[in-house]
Amino acid sequence: MPYVIAVANQKGGCGKTTISVNLAACFGRAGYKVLLVDADPQASAMQWRNNREESGLPFHIQPYPFPTIHKELPTQFEQAGYDVVLIDCPPGAATGGDRKADITRSALLASHAVLMPVRPTPLDYQAAAIILPLLQDVSFLRQDAPLKVLLVINGKLPGNTRLGGEAHAAAEAIFTAEGMPITVLRSEICSRQTFAEAPAVGQAVVDYAPSSKASAEIQQLAKEVLECLNRATAGA
Ligand SMILES: Nc1ncnc2c1ncn2[C@@H]1O[C@H](COP(=O)(O)OP(=O)(O)OP(=O)(O)O)[C@@H](O)[C@H]1O
Ligand SMILES: [Mg+2]
Repeated sequence: MPYVIAVANQKGGCGKTTISVNLAACFGRAGYKVLLVDADPQASAMQWRNNREESGLPFHIQPYPFPTIHKELPTQFEQAGYDVVLIDCPPGAATGGDRKADITRSALLASHAVLMPVRPTPLDYQAAAIILPLLQDVSFLRQDAPLKVLLVINGKLPGNTRLGGEAHAAAEAIFTAEGMPITVLRSEICSRQTFAEAPAVGQAVVDYAPSSKASAEIQQLAKEVLECLNRATAGA
């Protein structure tokens, strides 16, 4: 059974696709068999892949912008022998009844964990918290297999900025106040040109600029995500 990780946050432009594609590439280069499901009708991950004639991405990618992920895909994930599946969710997942919200809800129901990229500003933490009712709804439906909620700060200015320093505590406080157990990851992704350049050539930063800081940051994130999931499945 693969680890399934939904990358979600209803806030547009917080880095869901950037983190999904780059994380999938890290896992792929580390030897895992990886699938990235592009669940966003905007198909940005597919566009990234298509920016190069022959895929420069070390994982499979499948478009599936439908709210039936949890019903249709898990058997396929298992039969194909994937080790890790990432689902790049669309923005706008605040409430049910909207197609994009339904896609994200379906992705969460199919996942062991949700990874939420959040930009390090107070307004972005508050916007991220809009997903809480959806997380609570999904958690209620699957009490036997709790959804692990991981939050990663994306787009921090390099260096020790005040907003960066406050990011962890602020993000943790907002979610914990709503009774949602959350792990704010120690790994942080800074705002770096390399992350913005790599999609244009259809590559992930681990291949586009292997010795860059961007590559080191995303590899650190991949390592920490796996550690968290191993702990979650061990019941801790
Ligand atoms: N750490 C980063 N450093 C530099 N640029 C970044 C970083 N993260 C994201 N970006 C840029 O910010 C923009 C939005 O990122 P991305 O498309 O990953 O967000 P998203 O959450 O998937 O957006 P949407 O909600 O529209 O799907 C892109 O141009 C991307 O290259
Ligand atoms: Mg996106």
